[in-house]
Order: sequence, then structure tokens, then C-alpha cells
Amino acid sequence: MDAFRIEGGHRLKGTVRVNGSKNAALPLMAAALLTDQPVTLHDVPNLSDIRNLCKLLEELGCTCERDGGTLRLHTTDISNSRASYEIVSTMRASICVLGPLLAARGRAEVSMPGGCAIGERPVDLHLRGLRALGAEIDLEQGYIVARSKRMHGTKLFLGGQFGSTVLGTANVICAAALAEGQTVIEQAACEPEVVDLCNLLLAMGAKISGQGSPRVIIEGVPSLSGAEHRVLPDRIEAATYMAAAGITNGDVTIENCPTDVMTAITDRLHHVGLNLETIDGTDPMRQTVNITSDRRLAPVAVTTQPYPGFPTDVQAQLMALLTLADGNSIITEKVFPERFLHVAELSRMGANLYRQGPTVMVIGVKQLHAAPVMASDLRASAGLVLAGLAARGVTQINRVYHLDRGYEHMETRLQALGAEIERISV
Ligand code: EPZ
Repeated sequence: MDAFRIEGGHRLKGTVRVNGSKNAALPLMAAALLTDQPVTLHDVPNLSDIRNLCKLLEELGCTCERDGGTLRLHTTDISNSRASYEIVSTMRASICVLGPLLAARGRAEVSMPGGCAIGERPVDLHLRGLRALGAEIDLEQGYIVARSKRMHGTKLFLGGQFGSTVLGTANVICAAALAEGQTVIEQAACEPEVVDLCNLLLAMGAKISGQGSPRVIIEGVPSLSGAEHRVLPDRIEAATYMAAAGITNGDVTIENCPTDVMTAITDRLHHVGLNLETIDGTDPMRQTVNITSDRRLAPVAVTTQPYPGFPTDVQAQLMALLTLADGNSIITEKVFPERFLHVAELSRMGANLYRQGPTVMVIGVKQLHAAPVMASDLRASAGLVLAGLAARGVTQINRVYHLDRGYEHMETRLQALGAEIERISV
């Protein structure tokens, strides 16, 4: 099993390019199930989650050929529509094949994804949306078994107790794209990754409006064609490297940065004391920006919310940064209230954290100290890497396979910025 060893105290300096977004790429790949023509995606990150979904799509009759950052997908065999527990249990985002399979084939069997390190991951909203479109859905031996001759458009509400659902919205939009008539989704997710999916579907011939707003309208069409699409840059990865620059008082230039959809993030980081300068703002979704930070970081209050609020996927990284702020910060997690596995690990490194339910008070300390720590979920792992970059001594982060799910060659990219980090086998 791999681990990272990080010698803290080195300022990051240099340039890093943001990859295509994992959370955009996964539903984009699943959309290839909606057509019997080829779908080509550019800027697809080379991550374990992407490779796992390729494996699942191959099982479902959709070939996946990678050529550098390009992925060519082609659904040629529709005989198997069962997404097995073996793959779905390793990556719950596999649920994103449910809507496309059902829409294209009239049947889908997808293993219930189960929970994960950040909490229970229900799919009741996905099922509510698909049932509203006319699907018959049963749960049989841990599998979602969905059937429908042809779904029919309707007006449906997709909000849950934590607000909108990203992959639930993706599933319902894909299903509605081939349904009979008009579908109106109220409280659709507004995430940029959902907009990116809609941009691909539009290129495939779908009729969609309102994407990026809570009300999305889809006019069903009889079939969809193939298309070519460049994956949206990863705003979560960009935020992670911004925080890395901040926690090391570094000077980092970030290329291919989707700054236009990062306002909640850059607002909070600005208040903490990071200085963001736009070097090339020609394309607001693929900017070049420079990040430096004030010597002393300031405390802030932040609450994670669905887009355009502060993203839950940056909560752990911001917490790591705030452990060294000059004062007390408050972080409230409104999307995944249990998403705090990094709290105990950061405390082992000398962070001063007090959790009460979905809220953590972060009392700034002067210095973090190296310690052996355990990665748990993708973004918690990223938070531990940031803490290791600043801690005095050599931090060892175990189980970095969690990190490999969402960050491509993180250690080599941080090395290029001057970090003393290496991957070791333990
Ligand atoms: C997507 O997960 C992302 N994953 C997550 O990123 C991200 O944290 C999350 O959206 C929120 O932004 C991908 O896009 C692959 P949700 P998703 O459905 O769609 C509840 C990462 O680190 N809910 O928007 O599965 C749910 O429990 C990953 O890259 C229901 O109650 O998340 C949560 O509290 C982690 N019923 C809230 O809604 C449902 O049917 C938001 O979940 C579905 C969700």
C-alpha cells in the first residue's frame, strides 16, 4: 500500500496546470450510453475513479479507448444492463449510469452504492426523479432494478433535506433527454459539472434550457448522436493548489483555472489572506492566475452549501489552512454533516479543533507538527497533504489510494512546485 512522506516547511513556487474535472468527467462518460455513436472526451484526468468507470462501461457494452487525455467511448453492445456490486461498491459515483441505461435501453440493474467515509449516501432522490418520469423501480437483493418502455416528461421536484443532488440531477436530465415530451426539474443542482454534462448532451442533439439554474427544462427527443467535448477544468483541484500555496506562503501560478465558477472559494480564500492575481483572463473558465499569501492568515466563517455556495469538496482543505490562522474560525458542513474524518488526523498534527455536530471551531495555532496520519476519503486526504506541507518535520500519510481517486500524480506536481514529498510503499 502506498503512502506519502512529506517534509514540511518548503514554500511552493512555480506553475501547475489544473486537469479536467473528475466530477464532470464521470457523468460525461456515462452519457455515452445514450447513443450508439462514438463520444469523444478531451482533458479526461487519468484517475482510478475514471479507470473504474471505464471498466464498468466496458461491462455495459461501451468501449473506452484512452489516447493521452482523450477518451473515445462507443456503445456497441446493449445486451448487458447490470452494473455489478463489485465495481459500484468501490465507486458510488457509478450510480451515474442508471439514468442513461434506463433511457437508452428501457432497463437497468445497478447495485445500491452503499455509504462511504463521508457518510450515508442515499439515492432516494435519484429514484424519485426516475419514477416521476414513469420508470418502475424495485430493490432486489441490493440492486436497483429499473424498467420503462419509454419515459414521459413531467414536472418534478428533486430537492432533498440537504438541498439539490448533483448526480441525481445528472441521472434525471439524461433520462428526460430521451423521454416523450417536456420535463421540468425544480431544485436541480446548479453545479458547473451539471452544466458541462448539459453542454455535451446539447452537442448530442438534446434540447435543454435553464442548466446552471434550479429550474432545468428538457424537451425529449427520439435519439441522440455522438459528439466531441472538452471536460471542464477541475475547480476542486484548483482550490486545493490555491490552499497549498496559501499554507506554505508560496507563490504559485495556476493554469487552466475555472475561476469563473470559483467565486465562493476565492471569496473565502481572499478573506483568509490569499492574493489572487489574474495573469490571463481571456477564457473565464480556463484562466491563468497567480496565488500568493500574506504572512499571517486570518480566520473566517464558512458554511458548505450546494453551488454556488462554498463547496463541501473544499471543506477539508480550507480547514487545514485555517489551523494556522491568527484567530478562531468556524466551519459548518451543511451538505455532508459527517464529513469530518480529517478532524482527528489534523488534531494529531497539533491542530486545535472542537467539533459540535456539523460545526467545527478551528482555533489557530502557530505551528503544526509532523505525525503519521491516515487518509480516509479523497478530500480529507488532500487536507492532510496540505497540513504536511506546512508541518514541522516529516509527515507520513498512509492509504493515499484515496488521493489517487481524484488527484493525478499529486506528488510529482507538488515536487515540481518545490515540495519535499515522495510516494513510498509501506
Ligand atoms: C457529487 O456527489 C460529487 N461527486 C461529490 O464529490 C460532492 O461532494 C457532492 O456532489 C456534493 O457537491 C461526483 O460528482 C462524482 P449529492 P453526489 O447527491 O452527487 C444527499 C468528491 O470528493 N442526497 O449532491 O453523490 C446526500 O447524502 C465527491 O469528489 C440524498 O439525500 O452528491 C448529500 O447529503 C465526494 N438523497 C447531499 O444530498 C439522494 O438521493 C448532496 O449529495 C442523493 C443525495
